Amino acid sequence: MMRRVSTLSLNPTAISARLTAQSLTAWQLVVKPVVTSTNDIVREYDERGEGHGVAVMAEEQTQGRGRRGRTWHSPAGANLYCSIGWHLSGPLEALSGLSLSVGAMVAEAAMRVCGADLQLKWPNDLYADDQKVGGVLIEMLGARGNAQAAVIGIGLNVSMSADDGASIDRPWTDLSTASGRDIDRNELASAVLNQLAEGLAQIDQQGCAPWLNLWRRRDYLRGRAIVVDGSPPVAGIAAGVSDTGALVIETESGRQEVSGGEASVLEMGALR
Ligand code: BTN
Repeated sequence: MMRRVSTLSLNPTAISARLTAQSLTAWQLVVKPVVTSTNDIVREYDERGEGHGVAVMAEEQTQGRGRRGRTWHSPAGANLYCSIGWHLSGPLEALSGLSLSVGAMVAEAAMRVCGADLQLKWPNDLYADDQKVGGVLIEMLGARGNAQAAVIGIGLNVSMSADDGASIDRPWTDLSTASGRDIDRNELASAVLNQLAEGLAQIDQQGCAPWLNLWRRRDYLRGRAIVVDGSPPVAGIAAGVSDTGALVIETESGRQEVSGGEASVLEMGALR
């Protein structure tokens, strides 16, 4: 399929124009042309004591990073690269569902803007048409008083050319392809910020449970034969996520919960 390439630049005025009152209060918006990683910029703000509520976006990342030490391909003008600084109240253990919850928030926002049906692949990949369209990378910075400082990094493929995506070694797509529409990245950025302002405030008050429930409705792996890498790897049928965000797997020896790792879908019949 022909991929669409976006032309509109990220524009702080256009992004701010669509922010809700809650969002305008929550975020200090920073838009940069090129950065190493938007997560790095949030760290710099945090070191100056200005981390909470900073929302950094960039047209391009030269050292974009993904989970498990992977590179996040971040060509100029094609996608959304966004990092949020947030100080979460409550103990670290209560935050284990945070990355899944953020994935659910981003999926809600993206679906509202582009109309495509998105799924969530444990732990925090966004999927469309069986291919990865986005991901979340959370880096914890440590305690700040009673709160935990986090950098929440979000990458969404919006309209990436086949050439720009050629070095990505796993099946990928972008929101324009998945929805068949041109996507305005400024509109998408506002929707993500609005949803995060609302959702993170909710998590501060009620914890992650409501968002984990939303995540469960979009669970890409549920019912599929999977294997999660690790030593030893765990294979079985994916059976949802626990209240702490762990992946539940029905194995030959019973139910197991896995808190980290990479889940791969197995070919039909591979478990037999
Ligand atoms: C993953 O699926 O591996 C997580 C990808 C997260 C990518 C985003 S893009 C904005 C922020 N800056 C980074 O360097 N990474 C995150």
